[in-house]
Amino acid sequence: MARSGSSSRFLIGRPCCSLVTGLICLALVHSVRVPERSPNTLAENTIQAVERLFNQVLYATIEDARQRLPSHPANETIDRQYFEELDLVAGNEDYYSTAFYIFAWINSDLMYHNTPDKLLIEVLPGEKIAIRRFFGKVKPHLTKYLRSSRQERAELVANISQLANETGDSLITTFLEFPQNLKSQLPELQLMDYTKLAQALVQGVASGIWTKALNT
Ligand SMILES: *[C@@H]1O[C@H](CO)[C@@H](O)[C@H](O)[C@H]1NC(C)=O
Ligand SMILES: *[C@@H]1O[C@H](CO)[C@@H](O)[C@H](O)[C@H]1NC(C)=O
Ligand SMILES: *[C@@H]1O[C@H](CO)[C@@H](O)[C@H](O)[C@H]1NC(C)=O
Repeated sequence: MARSGSSSRFLIGRPCCSLVTGLICLALVHSVRVPERSPNTLAENTIQAVERLFNQVLYATIEDARQRLPSHPANETIDRQYFEELDLVAGNEDYYSTAFYIFAWINSDLMYHNTPDKLLIEVLPGEKIAIRRFFGKVKPHLTKYLRSSRQERAELVANISQLANETGDSLITTFLEFPQNLKSQLPELQLMDYTKLAQALVQGVASGIWTKALNT
């Protein structure tokens, strides 16, 4: 991995987590036992809509970073190799858990409260716009779901409205935590496992260039 040592760690309000364990912590923070779901078209449709919007943000940010990469010295930012590796990943969940990992990597300086590197400084404004748009678009899907399933989550909906206008850097962490936060509020709306790659790394299952990232 090409980041400097200090910025390669990834903190989400925890004393010392690597990028990988940081993402795992994220998955466990709101860990909820999810009952076996009975088929529920309404929930499925909502999950698909939210995932599609979430994935759009990951994709847009990564493509923006990839395009800006050539103008940055190789050791100042994430290696091009990781983006190329992403292109080889087949399977929706595998692809987006890899994208989620790269996304967290691009943003890791923010989690650390470090000064963002040059790539992040360039990517950040577009990224925030995409995330605000995400929350703005997710809201009607969730309110429709809540109405149809006769549930109320006023605080969740209020938070999402607010996030659609949020400009602070906390927006990035909130976005990363969104799948878990949603699951903790509405267990039946469990999105795909975005921490799959991070977990595979911890378990020693993932291989290739990703294991290089583990040790830096
Ligand atoms: C790596 O970073 C150092 C300073 O941190 C810089 O002097 C050097 O040119 C960089 N090397 C490459 C290949 O970008
Ligand atoms: C709403 O936001 C507040 C402040 O950020 C947070 O403490 C609370 O847990 C959030 N609630 C939900 C349901 O997301
Ligand atoms: C967020 O901005 C929209 C317009 O973009 C506005 O209609 C809405 O009231 C704002 N919400 C909050 C909570 O500030």
